[in-house]
Amino acid sequence: MTSLSPNLFLEKFDANKHSNSIKTFNCGNKDCNNFIREAAAIYQKEDLGCTYVLLNEKQNVVAYVTVSMGALKFRDPDLALILNSEEKPNHLPALRIGRIGTILSEQNKGHGKTLIKIVISLYEELRQKLGARCLIVDSVPEKVEWYKKLGFKPLFNDTTGRSTIPMYLRP
Ligand SMILES: CC(C)(COP(=O)(O)OP(=O)(O)OC[C@H]1O[C@@H](n2cnc3c(N)ncnc32)[C@H](O)[C@@H]1OP(=O)(O)O)[C@@H](O)C(=O)NCCC(=O)NCCS
Repeated sequence: MTSLSPNLFLEKFDANKHSNSIKTFNCGNKDCNNFIREAAAIYQKEDLGCTYVLLNEKQNVVAYVTVSMGALKFRDPDLALILNSEEKPNHLPALRIGRIGTILSEQNKGHGKTLIKIVISLYEELRQKLGARCLIVDSVPEKVEWYKKLGFKPLFNDTTGRSTIPMYLRP
C-alpha cells in the first residue's frame, strides 16, 4: 500500500480485502458500479485488466481505475512522415483506461485526477520498457470535457452518433 497523504492510500485491488466497501460503491454510473462490484476481480484473475483503488483512512474504496494493454487502430499521420518504410503500422501500442470511478460523496476532490496521474506514471514505465505510443480511453459523452481538461483529445473530430468517444493522450 502506498500512502498518498495521511488519509489517502493507493493499492492494487484485492477482491477479498475490499469486498465489503465495494458492495455499496456508487459513482453515479451503473456500468462503472457494476464493474467494480462484479467484474473487476474476474478481470484481474483472468489477466484482462488490473484495478487500482484509492482508500480512505477507514480503508474504504473511494475511487478506482482499471487499466490494460491496448491497441489503437489508427494510422497516425505524424508517423507517416517520420517512418521511411513502406509499411506503416495500422495499430499503435497503447495503455487502455477501461473504467474509472469516484464515489459520489468524494467527487470533485481530485481523486480522478490523482488516478490519471498514477496511470500516466504506469504508462511512462511501460513506454520505456516495451513501447507504448499513448493512453487511450473510450469516454462516455458526458465525461469528454473532463478528459479534455486532463489533456486527452478525441480521436475523431466528428463524434455525432457515437455512444462512446475514443480519446487519447500522448503525455
Ligand atoms: C469521472 C470521475 C471519475 C471524475 O472523478 P473525480 O474524483 O470527481 O475527479 P476530479 O476531482 O479529479 O475532477 C473534478 C474536476 O473535473 C470537473 N468535472 C467533473 N465532471 C466534469 C464534466 N463532465 N465535464 C467537465 N468537467 C468536469 C469538476 O468540475 C472538477 O473541476 P475542478 O478540478 O476545476 O474543480 C467521476 O465524475 C465519476 O466517477 N463519474 C462516474 C463514472 C464515469 O463516468 N466514469 C468515466 C467513464 S468513461
